[in-house]
Amino acid sequence: MRSKVSVIGAGNVGATCAFRIAEKGYADVVLVDIVEGLPQGKGLDMLEATPIIDSDANIIGTNGYEETAGSDVVVITSGIPRKPGMSRDDLVKTNMQIVKEVTEKVVQHSPDCIIIVVSNPLDAMVQMALHASKLPRTKVFGQSGVLDSARFRTFIAQELNVSVEDVFACVLGGHGDTMVPVPRLCTVGGVPITELLPREKVDALVERTVKGGAEIVALLKTGSAFYAPGTASAQMVDAIILDRKKILPCATLLEGEYGISGVVVGVPAKLGQNGIEQVIELKLYDEELAALQKSADAVKGLLKVMGI
Ligand code: LAC
Repeated sequence: MRSKVSVIGAGNVGATCAFRIAEKGYADVVLVDIVEGLPQGKGLDMLEATPIIDSDANIIGTNGYEETAGSDVVVITSGIPRKPGMSRDDLVKTNMQIVKEVTEKVVQHSPDCIIIVVSNPLDAMVQMALHASKLPRTKVFGQSGVLDSARFRTFIAQELNVSVEDVFACVLGGHGDTMVPVPRLCTVGGVPITELLPREKVDALVERTVKGGAEIVALLKTGSAFYAPGTASAQMVDAIILDRKKILPCATLLEGEYGISGVVVGVPAKLGQNGIEQVIELKLYDEELAALQKSADAVKGLLKVMGI
């Protein structure tokens, strides 16, 4: 039997994610949005592509949550994206309400589902979804590190003229200005980039990674990135539905790991059919730990704003 994945929010990120999942053929997909006709239209359009992409997935669009009942995984992309000049944190007051309501409806119909949050400001929205769903941290987490490290991998591969496949990149921390790329743990064919590139070059790639989302917002002017974020979310769904036990950076609630408690930030975790099956604790140097702590403090600031 095929699994069931619901994607809430039929905007650019939601639609990209839904289509990437539908392409795999292992899950039926339910696309939900409040805008009448939008999820139905995009869902039907995707369904009509299935003969071409050789997928037997069923895809439906709806404005309600009944059709999401019994989902194995739910991806929440709802909320407004930022405009040029805005930080992700500027979205908190609007998106916290949306994510809260959506999460409550999701768990009402799928009490056992695994939730991947993609809405911004990411780490705070994961925390809101944890709060609203009352599910354990193993089942509610966020996508951001897969995207941030994919950006870093892209820039490293471009710089060294190598296949992206041979590049591994490590990005920790919150999905914002305090994110923590860790160059000494980024490798090309197993060799750390700190041995392959001069310090200034590495710093420039780090800087571009941290500002990667804003770079796209500045170009698009009317919204934020979606191909890479949607695809990153779909990779996390793959890891869960196919029980791949993949080590991916996930925005997860820390409970003492890295000396941090009660805050969601990005760290590597093992993803499988049970959601987050293990939080991986990397051995970090003091300055890296301090940067991660600073990132967690920035997320804590948003929790105060949200009152949770
Ligand atoms: C980005 C947004 C979507 O990083 O958070 O592109």
